Amino acid sequence: MERLKDKVAVVTGAGSGIGRAAAQLMSREGARVVVADYDTAAAEESAALIAQDGGDALAVTVDVTDEDSVARMTASAVSEFGGLHVLCNHVGGTNPSVDLDVLRMDMDEFDRAVARNLRSTLLGTRHALPHMIRAGGGSIINTASVAALVGDVLQTSYGAVKAAVVNLTKSTAVQYGPHNVRCNAVAPGAVVTPALENNLPEGVVESLKKGNALPRLGSPEDIGHTMVFLASDESRYLTGQLLVVDGGVTMQSSAAPGRRAQLPV
Ligand SMILES: NC(=O)c1ccc[n+]([C@@H]2O[C@H](COP(=O)([O-])OP(=O)(O)OC[C@H]3O[C@@H](n4cnc5c(N)ncnc54)[C@H](O)[C@@H]3O)[C@@H](O)[C@H]2O)c1
Repeated sequence: MERLKDKVAVVTGAGSGIGRAAAQLMSREGARVVVADYDTAAAEESAALIAQDGGDALAVTVDVTDEDSVARMTASAVSEFGGLHVLCNHVGGTNPSVDLDVLRMDMDEFDRAVARNLRSTLLGTRHALPHMIRAGGGSIINTASVAALVGDVLQTSYGAVKAAVVNLTKSTAVQYGPHNVRCNAVAPGAVVTPALENNLPEGVVESLKKGNALPRLGSPEDIGHTMVFLASDESRYLTGQLLVVDGGVTMQSSAAPGRRAQLPV
């Protein structure tokens, strides 16, 4: 299948987890992909995996919080592949050991959260837009989280900045829709990646699973497939939307996990 034939995609945070899976799946659909990450070795590994699979990828070292670095990343897509049609702003996250409740919050971590999740998304968008407008359109995919939709006892800044990413998605969609640039966001639920495995205490993964309507946690590919859809022309009338890809955790009543045993099958 060639759902992204003739498209050039930039995926940030593509050295690991969901970003790597999204880049691989976009390549399998015919996109030429810039795999961007500040971990150079990881980006090169992702590019090598794509090449082994018969795809065309360029590894780029980027710090998505730094405007000059982001400008070089988008320019390299154009110089290497001749254009830029899809941007996946994927880097994000906070350090849960210091991203706590409002009173105990480490304010330096709050500033890092804004930079890593929100500033990075704004910078990527600013530097991709001129190329997309020149190409007659494009698709920007931002990475939010189910944390944007609910309050939590910890990770206050994570939820707050991801909610801001959702609003930035809508403003971008409104402002550049007339240029045929679409902008949507994906809100993953719990996805098994190195970030999740390294940061959550034992037992939490099991309780996350119970909170889902579906009987498992997500995989990077579950989110990557949604990103391919948003990158492709199949979603051409969809803009400013948040697609919640969470195994049903946010739509399920809090009573449901406890009552599940009462179901006959
Ligand atoms: N894993 C989950 O359960 C989950 C759930 C909801 C949302 N998300 C979101 O998905 C995104 C990625 O999550 P993941 O689990 O795939 O993470 P990950 O840690 O597996 O991958 C993140 C990648 O980003 C790179 N990176 C970090 N800071 C960077 C910077 N300043 N510049 C360039 N690259 C940088 C890292 O080197 C790494 O390769 C984040 O936005 C996260 O908030 C993840």
